[in-house]
Amino acid sequence: MTLLQVEGLRKVYADGTVGLSGIDFKVEAGEFIAVIGPSGAGKSTLLRCLNQMVETSSGEIVFQGTKTIGAGNRKLRHIRREMSMIFQGFNLVERSSVLTNVLHGRLGYMSGWRGALGLFSKSDVQEATRLLERVGLSEQIHKRADELSGGQQQRVGIARALAQKPKLILADEPIASLDPASSETVMSSLHTFCKEDGIACLCNLHQVDMAKKYATRIIGIHKGQKVFDGTPEELTDDMIALIYNRPAAGGAELSGEPARQKETA
Ligand SMILES: Nc1ncnc2c1ncn2[C@@H]1O[C@H](COP(=O)(O)OP(=O)(O)O)[C@@H](O)[C@H]1O
Ligand SMILES: [Mg+2]
Repeated sequence: MTLLQVEGLRKVYADGTVGLSGIDFKVEAGEFIAVIGPSGAGKSTLLRCLNQMVETSSGEIVFQGTKTIGAGNRKLRHIRREMSMIFQGFNLVERSSVLTNVLHGRLGYMSGWRGALGLFSKSDVQEATRLLERVGLSEQIHKRADELSGGQQQRVGIARALAQKPKLILADEPIASLDPASSETVMSSLHTFCKEDGIACLCNLHQVDMAKKYATRIIGIHKGQKVFDGTPEELTDDMIALIYNRPAAGGAELSGEPARQKETA
């Protein structure tokens, strides 16, 4: 079943910078897709357009059969709660407890005033506790979020994302701030839980080895364009060189747009 369909997605920022210059792809339920590309390629822009943290300039996004661009507030709330985000900087409320941070994943299901007062239901608390056990943090539940190591904080981020009961997780360089050992734990947890729960994942990664290890499919982005979409096996060294704009042994280079161009409206 097609979960997400993206067509001609284009983002031009207010200052004229082209973030994405027309991207097409589909995500099937349960796929684990790594999005790779050099810094500035447009990976974050892509995820932000998908959950509408930034306004898309043109194109179409269909999530679970619903067009998301131009959706009203009510619809957007429904869309966003089924599309969890995981961030490079964790984005936890540092002064709040680990448990409270995971409970924040339930806010999209509560009325505004209950959420503002932190009136989480008993079943939400039980579920958040269970999720924290699942990510191996049962001992840390009542600690302040900022008492945890980076790897542990990102596992709280994963538990919060799962608490939303999403169909899709958008992870923007979830391991970029972590040491190699924590990176492995975080990627392997994310991968395992998505698989167990049938959640699709679009995971921006800088590390090609991690993309090859965990993804069922890899999308390569270069200067706002999709230049590769295939299996880890199909991602050859030459292709990696093209995506990262490093001349390969054969000397091939991607044509198309010149270095990140600005658009003069
Ligand atoms: N808020 C913004 N305003 C203007 N340009 C931006 C903004 N955010 C990102 N960009 C530009 O859009 C391009 C893509 O950025 P980004 O999506 O952050 O790439 P990546 O995540 O792959 O590093 C870059 O040229 C970046 O400088
Ligand atoms: Mg980025």
